Amino acid sequence: MDKIEKLAIVCAAILLSVFFFAVWDARKKGVTLPNCLPPGTAFTEGKLVKLSEKEYQVFYVSKMWTFIPARIEIPAGSRLDIFLISADVVHGLQVVRKNVNMMAVNGAVNFQSVQFDKPGVYPVVCHEYCGIGHQFMQAEIAVR
Ligand code: CUA
Repeated sequence: MDKIEKLAIVCAAILLSVFFFAVWDARKKGVTLPNCLPPGTAFTEGKLVKLSEKEYQVFYVSKMWTFIPARIEIPAGSRLDIFLISADVVHGLQVVRKNVNMMAVNGAVNFQSVQFDKPGVYPVVCHEYCGIGHQFMQAEIAVR
């Protein structure tokens, strides 16, 4: 076997190890990936639902050019399950300073779970150009 081939195999093995470590570490830290929920889980009204003192669900309806609900408040240390739909065109949802980046596609429910430990106001912005009012499309999550 050529020396260069051996080097390529070693490099590939190292990269694969780094990849598996990153996946393992993300799972250990509770990082979840956005995913689409099956049909039948659809909703039409935006709302915040309290499951317990530290568990909440927010159902966001995105439409030109707002998120409903526009503002929610939860206590620090809470887990927030975010459900997202679009009532019209494709939108995006990004929670600033959190690892949340979702797409809102008409006809599908997107889901991601996120933990809020630090108090503060977290802006929610649309990150997908959705028309002339795109830059005004925002909401906020207040963590107290
Ligand atoms: Cu909605 Cu940009």
